[in-house]
Amino acid sequence: MLEQLDELYNEALEKLNQAQTTAELSAWYKEMLGRKGQVYLLTRQVGQLDPAERPQAGKRINAIKQELEACYEEKLAALKTAELEAQIAASSLDVTLPGRRQWRGRLHPSTQILREIYQIWGKMGFQIFRSRDVETDEYNFELLNIPQHHPARDLWDTFHTITPGVILRTHTSPGQIHAMHAYHPEPIRVILPGMCYRYEQITARSEIQFHQVEGLAVGKHITFTDLKGTLTEFVRRMFGAERKVRFRASYFPFTEPSAEMDVECLLCQGDGCQVCKYTGWLEILGCGMVHPVVLRNGGYDPAVYSGFAFGMGPERIAMLKYGIDDIRYFWGNDLRFLEQF
Ligand code: PHE
Repeated sequence: MLEQLDELYNEALEKLNQAQTTAELSAWYKEMLGRKGQVYLLTRQVGQLDPAERPQAGKRINAIKQELEACYEEKLAALKTAELEAQIAASSLDVTLPGRRQWRGRLHPSTQILREIYQIWGKMGFQIFRSRDVETDEYNFELLNIPQHHPARDLWDTFHTITPGVILRTHTSPGQIHAMHAYHPEPIRVILPGMCYRYEQITARSEIQFHQVEGLAVGKHITFTDLKGTLTEFVRRMFGAERKVRFRASYFPFTEPSAEMDVECLLCQGDGCQVCKYTGWLEILGCGMVHPVVLRNGGYDPAVYSGFAFGMGPERIAMLKYGIDDIRYFWGNDLRFLEQF
C-alpha cells in the first residue's frame, strides 16, 4: 500500500509539471485531488487494510494530499502570471490613439447669468445677502406694506404650507426686511438672489419657480437719481455701453414712487421684432424708492433714511440675451437645451 502511495505521488507530481495552462491544471486537480480523484480512491482502500498498517497508511495519505495541494497552488499562481504576461505581450498598445474625452458637466444657464449679475453688482459695491425661501406671510406681505385683503396680493399667487402663515416666498422682497434688521443702523448695499415660487399655471412665459435678484440700498440722502444712475450703469455693464434704457411709472406697494425699467431690445436693437412685440423695448426689472412704511418696518427712520430697491429675473434676462422663447426649458432637465450653454 505504501509503495502504491509513493507511486501515485510521483506520478501526480510528474503530471503536474506537464500542465502548461490553467485549464490543464484544473483537469489535473480533478483527476488527482477531486471528489472522485485518485487520492480519494486510495483513501477508501485504507479501510480495507490490516488494522496494524492503517495508521501509517493514513498518515502518509494525508501528507501526500497536503503536499499535492501546496504544489498545485504554487503552479496555479505561476501559470496565471505567465498567462497574463502572454496576454499583455500579444495585445498591442497604440499610444497614438487619441484619448477618450471625459464627459464634463457645466453650469446651468441660470447659474451662469446669476454669477455675471453677482460680479457686476459686486464691483459696484453690493454684497450678497442670502434670505430664506420659506417665509411667513408677515415678511412676504405685511411688512412690505401689503396687508391681508390688499388687492395687490393678487399679483403674487402663493404656495401655502399646512402651517398657517408659513408660505413659499413669492418674491425676494421679504429679504429687504431681513437685511434691514441685520444691518440697522448702518447703510445698506446688498443684492438678494434666490428662488421664488408662485402658484401659477405654467406657460411659456411663467413658471411656478424662478430666480429673482433683489437689490436694496439704504442710507442718508439716497434719491431717485441714484436709482436711475445705478440701474443704468448695471445695464451698461450687463448688455453693453450703448444699450439704451427707459423708466416707466409703475406700482408696487413697497416702493414709492415705483417704476419698471426697459432696455432697448437685444435682438432688433430697437427696430421692433417679435420678441419685443414690435415696441423696441424689453422689460427687465421693477424698482422704486423704498416706501417709508417699509423703512420703518425695517427699523430705519424714514425722516432720516431713504433708499431704493429693485427686483430682476435672471431667467428673463437669459431669455432675452439668448433668444430663449420658453421659460419651461430652464427646469425641464432637457440636455439638448442645457448643453447649449
Ligand atoms: N418684488 C417685485 C416683484 O416680484 C419686484 C420689485 C422688487 C419691485 C423691488 C420693486 C422693488 O415683482
